[in-house]
Amino acid sequence: MVQENLSTSAKIGANAMTTNVYEIVAQHINGVRNMHPHVSDHDGWLHRYINLIRHPNYQLVNGLDAFSQGQLLSKAWLCDAISTQNLKLGNIWLLAGWIGTLSYMLLERREQFGIDRIRSFDIDPLCADLADIYNKKDVIDDWRFKALTMDVNDIFYDNFVWQGKKSDGTLSFPRSETANTVINSSCDHMGGNAVWWDKIPAGKLVMLQNNDWYENDQHNNSVNNLAEFERMYPMNELLYKGQLELPLYTRFMLIGRK
Ligand SMILES: C[S@@+](CC[C@H](N)C(=O)[O-])C[C@H]1O[C@@H](n2cnc3c(N)ncnc32)[C@H](O)[C@@H]1O
Repeated sequence: MVQENLSTSAKIGANAMTTNVYEIVAQHINGVRNMHPHVSDHDGWLHRYINLIRHPNYQLVNGLDAFSQGQLLSKAWLCDAISTQNLKLGNIWLLAGWIGTLSYMLLERREQFGIDRIRSFDIDPLCADLADIYNKKDVIDDWRFKALTMDVNDIFYDNFVWQGKKSDGTLSFPRSETANTVINSSCDHMGGNAVWWDKIPAGKLVMLQNNDWYENDQHNNSVNNLAEFERMYPMNELLYKGQLELPLYTRFMLIGRK
């Protein structure tokens, strides 16, 4: 009897594991399919994707979610708006850059968008290596892309001096750089702390996204609508505002000069 019980629970365990594996595989297939339209070099991209998902930090930062349809549609929406406005971005400070999916999409259109360099700041120390792996082709090109572990409330936008971790693990010489464009597509995660926003000099080109997904327990600064978002981050010159309806929530976007 005991033996029967054990083998039954073992079978249930095996079934649960199989279901879980199928779910994970299905999520990866969806992720690859969602990213496909935004990639030019598919072989190179797949190689980097596999390196990314093999990394032990990947699951810890919920990497699969970065390739969900809602996430990638939101980032593609930002790229389309930049294209429609014919904006040239120069040096980009990407705030709360996570594992670097938006950077990748922007750098795919580097010449069109006039991008010089991207610095991706995230407070989570698990993110930087992942973002560098995913954007490796631009990391190895004299750090056109570099991810840094920092609280965005501690950064500056003009003559900001920073040191990045080199591939041998040591720190680089200090570099001083100035942002031409500031992007924060994670305003929903800013916890009501506006230090990062207050420090952005007037006139700087800024691109922001937020959403009304209050039910997500990681969100601590969502907004009810676009008007509330506009009041939260007032611009001197608003170039674009809009909203995108997604299955779980509405996403809001503002582009302008602060
Ligand atoms: C998980 S992503 C979610 C992305 C966002 N919902 C979006 O759609 O683009 C949010 C990221 O913000 C980062 N983050 C939160 N507060 C931060 C801060 N003060 N400075 C830097 N990064 C921060 C987190 O570590 C996380 O990687």
